[in-house]
Amino acid sequence: MKRHMHLNLFIHSRGHHEAAWRHPTASPLALSDIRYYQALAQHAEAGLFDAIFLADQLALGDDIAHGPRTALEPLTVLAALAVSTCRIGLIATASTTYTEPFNLARQFASLDHISRGRIGWNIVTSWLAPAARNYGGTAQVSHAERYARAEEFLTVVKGLWDSWADDAELDDRASGHYANPARIRPLNHAGPYYRVAGPLNLPRCPQGRPVLVQAGSSDTGRGFAARHAEAIFTAHMEKTRAKEFYADLKSRVAVEGRCPDQALILPGLSPFIASSEVEAQRLAEELSELANPEAGRKRLSGRFGGHDFSHLPLDTPLAPADFPIPSTVEAARSRTEVILELVRQERPTLRQLLARLAGARGHHTFAGTPEQVADLMEDWCTDGAADGFNIMPPVLPAQLEVFIAEVIPLLQRRGLFRTAYAGDTLRAHYGLMAPDSQFG
Ligand SMILES: Cc1cc2nc3c(=O)[nH]c(=O)nc-3n(C[C@H](O)[C@H](O)[C@H](O)COP(=O)(O)O)c2cc1C
Repeated sequence: MKRHMHLNLFIHSRGHHEAAWRHPTASPLALSDIRYYQALAQHAEAGLFDAIFLADQLALGDDIAHGPRTALEPLTVLAALAVSTCRIGLIATASTTYTEPFNLARQFASLDHISRGRIGWNIVTSWLAPAARNYGGTAQVSHAERYARAEEFLTVVKGLWDSWADDAELDDRASGHYANPARIRPLNHAGPYYRVAGPLNLPRCPQGRPVLVQAGSSDTGRGFAARHAEAIFTAHMEKTRAKEFYADLKSRVAVEGRCPDQALILPGLSPFIASSEVEAQRLAEELSELANPEAGRKRLSGRFGGHDFSHLPLDTPLAPADFPIPSTVEAARSRTEVILELVRQERPTLRQLLARLAGARGHHTFAGTPEQVADLMEDWCTDGAADGFNIMPPVLPAQLEVFIAEVIPLLQRRGLFRTAYAGDTLRAHYGLMAPDSQFG
């Protein structure tokens, strides 16, 4: 039997192309209208996706004039989606730099109870520089320190989730015993960044622990993923790089003593789908024409930690010297490497580079027929580049609808995707083992 691929629907704006919010086939609903997210999640569930995924930033950004940079708070959205869906997994981003581990452990455990075991946490250290100014600090915490904090943060949240044994809650009305205190342990954690007594004030959640997802791809980020992540989101413009990343990450997971199958690698894929290649290209061009290059220039600056690109002409070929060296960038370091690689390989003009990034911000974009999209997905999954994908429809909901109606049946016919949900939890959809209970 062929191995099934895993599919998440990455919900972002009215689609992943930065001009999607203006496109005539985009949803008429406001981005603050929960019905928009409910409809997408229900649609993805009907299409048998493993999960939906919500990213998050903790500051507005400075390009609000030309594009929606606002979003409902993701954990709040997950609570609403948990009660309007039944089977699909629900993954939200939350930051280890700007939250307390006790809060976050409690919120995710609560969501796992509310959804009956369908929750995943995309662990990020938050690369966006202005976020620091919203959380009491003036300067951004360095890349290295963000990951050092994240490491300790993970020790604490895992300890809190494990602080109740599966059988600690008795709820025995006849005898009057609500819980067995011998099966609930304090944590008493004291480290350089956090002091947390514990235990959690909530019984162990249905999945034991929510599924841990990670999306940083720098060297430090990869080490972190290898130790903790059960699913790894990543961005590659080309398959060769995706294969290198896949091989590197799987071997790092093995070095950490974990089974490589227990860390799924899910690169982003943004497919423009139409009944002919020409029509699919036309959709991509239509969206490009709606994009604003000056807004793109501001976003590029944000990726490079606020670097000033205002002097660069739009129509002159770029050189690597026009960019800061990625290892000096305190923002999203791995994405800056993806961008510089493209500049080295293709020498685009700034206008061309911005058009490429407008498609899906450095993830793989592809325009073609449903068969071509299914071929690409099969190729990446059988050739050691992916265990599945974060599907990033360029326009929502129109391109999700096409993907579900046209691409999913092809994948199913090829034996590459499920034809029904086999389980009820995100761990079951992803084929992940239950975490060990610390109580024996
Ligand atoms: C699919 C995907 C989704 C991401 N979502 C977020 C997000 O919602 N918020 C965030 O701050 N960073 C997000 N990131 C960025 C990383 O998690 C990470 O913080 C950033 O890349 C810096 O770490 P690095 O230098 O190790 O890559 C995402 C990355 C990928 C590939």
